[in-house]
Amino acid sequence: MKVTIHSRSDRYEFDADGSKPLLFAGLGDGIALPYACASGTCGSCKATLKSGSVGDAWPAAPGKKGFKSDSQILLCQCAPRGDCEVEVAESVYRMIPGSTLPSGVNARVANWRLLTHDVASWELELHDPMTYEAGQFVLVRFPGVEGQRAYSMVNFEPGSRRLELLIKKKPDGGLSEALFAANPAGTQVRVTGPLGAAVFKPDAGKDVLCIAGGSGVAGMFSILDHAESIGYFEKNSGHLYFGLRSMRDAFFLDRLTSVARYALGALEITVCLSEEAVPDGAAQQYPGLFFAHGFVHEVALKQMTGRLANVHAFLAGPPPAVDAAMRGLILQGKLSPKNISFDKFS
Ligand code: FES
Repeated sequence: MKVTIHSRSDRYEFDADGSKPLLFAGLGDGIALPYACASGTCGSCKATLKSGSVGDAWPAAPGKKGFKSDSQILLCQCAPRGDCEVEVAESVYRMIPGSTLPSGVNARVANWRLLTHDVASWELELHDPMTYEAGQFVLVRFPGVEGQRAYSMVNFEPGSRRLELLIKKKPDGGLSEALFAANPAGTQVRVTGPLGAAVFKPDAGKDVLCIAGGSGVAGMFSILDHAESIGYFEKNSGHLYFGLRSMRDAFFLDRLTSVARYALGALEITVCLSEEAVPDGAAQQYPGLFFAHGFVHEVALKQMTGRLANVHAFLAGPPPAVDAAMRGLILQGKLSPKNISFDKFS
C-alpha cells in the first residue's frame, strides 16, 4: 500500500503493509511525523484523511478530544487499509541520515521491584538490542491488554538488551493495578521504540536543568547517566529538582546520593516535598542532596530564576506540573521555548 503525506513543507510517500499505525510506518521510513505520547492520549499526531481508509485501533482515544470531523485521525492509532493520502497541518521533514528509527521487538519482563507503595522499578530483557538517546521512551504492549503504555528508560545503555523502567500505580489504572497485584516477571511483552524528542544533546554544551515529579524522574536518570559517562559536568553544571509528595513516596534517594557524589559538586540535586515539611535528619541521611518544602516547579523557579542564561531544561511528571514549570520558565525565567524539552503524555 502506498501512503502519501501532505504537509506544510513537503509531500512524502512510503510503503506500508497495514500491520502498524501510520505514525510508526512513517517514522520507520525516516519521516519525522508529528507525535508526542505515541499512544493515543495527547492529540499531537492529529491529521486529516484525504483519501483511502484506515483502521482505528482506539476509536475512543482521549487524543481525539476536540476533533471536528470524521476525517480527522490520530496517526499513532490508525493503520492504512489500502493506498491513502493524509494531510498534516504542520511542516514535516526527513530525519537526518543515521537517526535511530523506532521498531518493534519482543521482550520479557526480567525483574520487578516495588520501590514505594505506588512506584515499582522493572526491567525488560529485549530479544534484540536497542539503541536510544538519553531521555527517550518505549511503548510496551502487554498480552491481553488493549493499547500500549509509554515508559521512559531509567538506564542509559544504548545498544544493550536491558531497559530499566519505572511504573506508577494509578487509581483505576487497570493495567498498573494488575501489575502491582501480581508480580509480572517472566511476562512476554512487545516493545516499540525508541521514541521521544526530549533528548539530551551534549554537543549543545548547555547547562542541564531537570524538573521532574514522581516516576517522571525516570528519563532524568538516563540524561544524568549519559552526562556523567562523558564527563559532561566537568564543564557544565546540572540541577535536578525531584518532586515528591512526602518522604513516604521517596525512592532512589540513595542512588541520587551516588549520582551527586560522582559529579563532584557540579550537579545539585534538590528533593522537593509538597505535602510535608522536610523531616529532621533528611540531609544527614542522604549526604549531597538538598531538601526543600514546596511544589517542585515553584522551588525550581525560585532557585533558578536569574541562572538560566545557558540552560536547557527537561521537564517530566504530571501534566499540570509540567505545564506550570514550562510557563514559569518562559514567563518568569525568560527561557526560550527552544531550550525546554518534554514529552507530552496526555
Ligand atoms: Fe498520537 Fe499522542 S495521540 S502522539
